[in-house]
Amino acid sequence: MNKNIFKQRRDNLSSVIPNNSVLIIIGAESRYRNADSAYAFRQESSFYYLSGFCEPSSVMVLANKDNKITSTIFVPKKDKVKEIWDGYRAGPEGAISDYFFDNAFNNEELDSKIPGLLQGNQKLFYSFGKDTSFDKKVIGWTNIANAAERHSKTIDMVDATSLVGNLRLIKDDGEIEILKKSCEISAEAHISVMKSIQPGQTEQEIEAQYLYEFAKRGSRFAAYTPIVAGGENACVLHYVENNQSLNNGELILVDAGGEYEMYASDITRTFPVNGKFTKEQLEIYNVVYKANQEAINAVKVGNNIMDPQKISEKVIVEGLVDLGILNGDPENLYEDGAHKDFYMHKVGHWLGLDVHDSGDYMEGDEFMSFKPGMVTTIEPGIYISSSADVDDKWKGIGVRIEDDILVTSEGNINLTEKVPSDPSEIEALMS
Ligand code: GLY
Ligand code: MN
Ligand code: MN
Repeated sequence: MNKNIFKQRRDNLSSVIPNNSVLIIIGAESRYRNADSAYAFRQESSFYYLSGFCEPSSVMVLANKDNKITSTIFVPKKDKVKEIWDGYRAGPEGAISDYFFDNAFNNEELDSKIPGLLQGNQKLFYSFGKDTSFDKKVIGWTNIANAAERHSKTIDMVDATSLVGNLRLIKDDGEIEILKKSCEISAEAHISVMKSIQPGQTEQEIEAQYLYEFAKRGSRFAAYTPIVAGGENACVLHYVENNQSLNNGELILVDAGGEYEMYASDITRTFPVNGKFTKEQLEIYNVVYKANQEAINAVKVGNNIMDPQKISEKVIVEGLVDLGILNGDPENLYEDGAHKDFYMHKVGHWLGLDVHDSGDYMEGDEFMSFKPGMVTTIEPGIYISSSADVDDKWKGIGVRIEDDILVTSEGNINLTEKVPSDPSEIEALMS
């Protein structure tokens, strides 16, 4: 991605960080799966959003003085031996020349330099609560800065989570192009699996196929651990064991999305392992499908996040009543939350650099209204475990259908519609 966009985003902070204020953002640390076996490094999303810089243990300090942002970054220092073992480091010089920071230092200089950068500012913006050891450092640096300025006001500490999160909530054109590609890659992976899956395969075999299909199209990593759930495993919402056999006559629910150029996609499809829905599976599926379609239609300017939520709940209540799974007046059942035994999660979440992306869900006392550039998932589901108090014929059926929806000024675009969710189209693809 063109590095200028990251500098432009930093410069634009002058409209959201008040004058004489400073924003500190910490990058991710290297993480280890066991002993000294490192996971592939992944930069913290807000740090990436404002820097494009992908080395661990880095810190950014962005100061607004007279409506102009001065950017400072602390990075791992150049080190011949470490670079032989772990790879190239830009060092402070590279951070300035290649990433367009105004100032750059070795990250060993945090304690000696940051109090001076804070001194004289009125407000410090920082996302508290993500890393308590770093929270303590930030408080320590602020105390030192305050002590050095005994005769002026102390620096107000303000939580920055909403400030940066709400910038990320509205995607720019470059981000939208990447998200489209991310979604397309994942849609193609789902199609590939639908075309080839056979009874007797295992969940982990299917998981591996998704990862391969993502990687060969440019998404080396999944955006989150895939949920590959055969039969009743679909009723465990965060099922990630992915180690059972896939049986003839059962459904498989796959919630899997790749990460492309740091941006997530998030798709769930539920389809018959043998390519043909049973009568009961199809009846449940059609209720979820209707909820998915009607909730997607409600993602538009003029509506807020509760519109698709309510619509999905009402469609599911009515569908469960029609099938005799719930009994009573649909409106009363909806008001009583009777559907929550079968549809117990929210209809969606923001999507972007993180799969559960940053951005508020409320604006003041109101639910967040949809605005062009927002991307939300729409993912209603019905989950009927074997312990549910229903006719046996419904037991063990779990269905979720999840799409990624971009809000535009003219309506919305379903970024994941390439992979079918219409049951007859799924059966045709699998035949
Ligand atoms: N894949 C995570 C979610 O659907 O929220
Ligand atoms: Mn999701
Ligand atoms: Mn998902």
